[in-house]
Amino acid sequence: MSQHSAHDDEIMGKAFDLRLMRRLIHFLKPYWKIFSVCVLLILVLTGIQTVLPYITKIAIDDFLTLPWAVVTLDHSPSAGEPIPLGDGRYLVRIGDISPDTRMKWESAGALSAKRYIFVTQGSPQETVVDRNQQVFTAVPGGFFASEDALRALPATDTITLRQGAVTGVIRLAILFAIALVVRFLFGVAQVYLLQLTGQKVMYDMRRQIFAHILRLPLSYFDRTPVGRLVTRVTNDVAAINEMFTSMLVNLFRDAFLIVAVMGIMFQMDWRVALVILALFPFIVLAAFEFRRRVRSAYREVRRQIARLNANLQESISGMRIIQLFVQEIKANKRFGKINVDKYRASMRQLITFAVFRPLMSFLSSFAVALVIWYGGRNVLQGSLSLGALTAFIQYVRMLFQPILELSQGYNVLQGAMAASERIFILLDEPEEDRGGTGKIENLHGKIEFRHVWFAYKGEDWVLKDVSFAATPGSRVAIVGPTGSGKTTIIRLLLRMYQIQKGEILLDGVPIEQLDLGFLRSRMAVVLQDVFLFSGDIMGNIRLWSQISEEEAVEAARFANAGFVESLPEGYKTEVKERGVTLSVGERQLLSFARAVAFKPQILVLDEATASIDSQTEDVIQRSLEKIMENRTSIVIAHRLSTIRNSDKIIVLHNGKVVEEGTHAELIAMHGLYAALHAMQFAEAGAD
Ligand SMILES: Nc1ncnc2c1ncn2[C@@H]1O[C@H](COP(=O)(O)OP(=O)(O)O)[C@@H](O)[C@H]1O
Ligand SMILES: [Mg+2]
Repeated sequence: MSQHSAHDDEIMGKAFDLRLMRRLIHFLKPYWKIFSVCVLLILVLTGIQTVLPYITKIAIDDFLTLPWAVVTLDHSPSAGEPIPLGDGRYLVRIGDISPDTRMKWESAGALSAKRYIFVTQGSPQETVVDRNQQVFTAVPGGFFASEDALRALPATDTITLRQGAVTGVIRLAILFAIALVVRFLFGVAQVYLLQLTGQKVMYDMRRQIFAHILRLPLSYFDRTPVGRLVTRVTNDVAAINEMFTSMLVNLFRDAFLIVAVMGIMFQMDWRVALVILALFPFIVLAAFEFRRRVRSAYREVRRQIARLNANLQESISGMRIIQLFVQEIKANKRFGKINVDKYRASMRQLITFAVFRPLMSFLSSFAVALVIWYGGRNVLQGSLSLGALTAFIQYVRMLFQPILELSQGYNVLQGAMAASERIFILLDEPEEDRGGTGKIENLHGKIEFRHVWFAYKGEDWVLKDVSFAATPGSRVAIVGPTGSGKTTIIRLLLRMYQIQKGEILLDGVPIEQLDLGFLRSRMAVVLQDVFLFSGDIMGNIRLWSQISEEEAVEAARFANAGFVESLPEGYKTEVKERGVTLSVGERQLLSFARAVAFKPQILVLDEATASIDSQTEDVIQRSLEKIMENRTSIVIAHRLSTIRNSDKIIVLHNGKVVEEGTHAELIAMHGLYAALHAMQFAEAGAD
């Protein structure tokens, strides 16, 4: 796990991982009903999409072309709904005659090259027929007109003559329009439902991840950068959403579309369909190769941009050093190299696009050309209808889009898999051990460290055999050089880390046996950096807890944080940008007020007064004296003047307790404390 967390932003794994997918599907479960409706809508939508070209085919074949021809035979043809015209001539429906038969008739000269339109007897067209006697011949059962004759007719007459076809075309147009409207409405519903599901899933994910982050041990945050956790909750969740809402659905739609279109194509004409199918592997290969190149080029560009930014940032913020140490030429060379790399990466990306985009469009047009060439031949031979050819051209174009999208989906899928892997690594991070369930009624506040050994890592002992005790209500100070382990002692007392050896006791009970919430709620910690949340001052004292406003005000007054009341908006004053509008001392007083409001038995101060100037220190010191009254307190102080009155001072050095006693005793010892004291005294004198 830890080996992951160091580099997990770079995880770029498989595009599909069943184990991850299963865990992801889990998030989708509560919304499976909406999702199913969505899938159903997609099926209908894709169905409509594939039907549209077929409608044009019907329009062309059944209504827009002239379906009848005259054959001269000595017997009635067995196909083509023959209508006898007399003199061995028959009117036949071209579409119903097999290509072989047609070829036979054509070569025998039995088939008239002219096409005819058939008009049913008794229809309103009779008047037209009468008016153009030389053009139309009445036949039993109806009339017919040749294509040439039709052309000679005025347009209005043609339309009247072809009333049946016009009605048919109008019907189809209405059907087409209805299909479009349905597609629009269903499309809106589908997008809405899909996005709804996606947003809900994202909401749940963010909630679950944040809830998990809240339960992680504090030690986790020591080794994890804030930015990374933020990315988990925002970007990574969004990447998964993209997969669910765009990629998976597209995959499904495209797969369905390809199957449906291929099905229709084979049904219309299997030979033309086969020709298109033969092109398929090339198109797919080209599309995937394109995506692969784009992906790697894109990644390289991103990497170079990051390098460029980092270099610029560093050079500019370090400009003073560069110039003062006369390193301009070297810095320029370094920048020049990175700049060239960035240029090359961008060019590679651009060339990839420059070549592949036209290539894909060439392939797509080539497929269309192939259909026109091969299909057109079949149309001329009569084995393929003109309508079917038009439909084929539309279908070929329809096939290309999904293939391009599928190859793009691969990227999305890979990104989402990597994101979910990172999210699951975070979610699998063990939660903080809540410890025992023990609680102590009437806590006195006795603290005892017994031979405590602790290391953050392995055997690097930060605390070595530390033992000390703080009796209830007493004031214990811990002093020592930076890095001697003072803060670590406090972390251990709050059980932010587990000790390796020894015992830490609270009123004689090992702290591991205590409920973590209980343990922490009995101690108030004030750190050097006061963290203020966004919101008002009142909120920052109460921290969303049960503490009433009256109690908070009381606590603030008790902690000498009366300055709040002189602010124009008092406790409702907005804390801006983590309290920049407040002075360090004021912020510190607020943190005391916060500590007091929580009424802890034990008060822990870690260098709380270190960064406060001497004027404010007085107010703070008086506030502290009050707060520490009747409480066990552990005070880590840099400035020894502030802890002189402690009941006990523990001197820590390299993780070991080296001296222990009151101020007077330690001074008399002439050891480390006396030396530190003498040093600070000298500094203070020099001021
Ligand atoms: N989270 C951590 N992980 C690893 N080492 C740490 C961590 N925190 C502190 N240390 C190390 O432990 C030692 C004691 O640190 P600390 O208790 O903060 O000292 P002090 O508060 O006395 O300045 C230091 O050497 C420090 O580098
Ligand atoms: Mg410290």
